[in-house]
Amino acid sequence: MSGSDALVEAARRAREHARAGYSGFKVGAAFELADGAIVGGCNIENATYGLTVCAERVALWKALSEGQSTFVRVAVVADTDAPTPPCGACRQLLWEFCGDIEVILANMSRVTGVHRLGDLLPLPFDDRLLR
Ligand code: THU
Repeated sequence: MSGSDALVEAARRAREHARAGYSGFKVGAAFELADGAIVGGCNIENATYGLTVCAERVALWKALSEGQSTFVRVAVVADTDAPTPPCGACRQLLWEFCGDIEVILANMSRVTGVHRLGDLLPLPFDDRLLR
């Protein structure tokens, strides 16, 4: 996969809208849906700090609230040399609503890692354990 993949580019564009005035750490995320559509989101911080919402969750809530439910891949972009993987809370929610999707990590010029969500969240707690 190249660093100019359409999904990665969508995450880069979403990142431009990040409200990251407290951390200065802008993140963009974009989901590819089964029909090929792309839904993006960015991190949104606020003065309480603790109510910050990660880019992945903003994009996920957007897609779910628009009736989307079949996710294929997600790209996460930050302006860092090292990969920026989803935080633990986002991994939990990605697993819940997207299953074992592909997670593409990228910066402003290249892809820095490609993973399966199941590898990033081994031994997950999920609805199978509630039955
Ligand atoms: N952040 C994300 O949006 N996604 C990640 O995968 C890692 C962290 C945000 C949360 C916060 O606004 C900033 O990055 C610094 O933690």
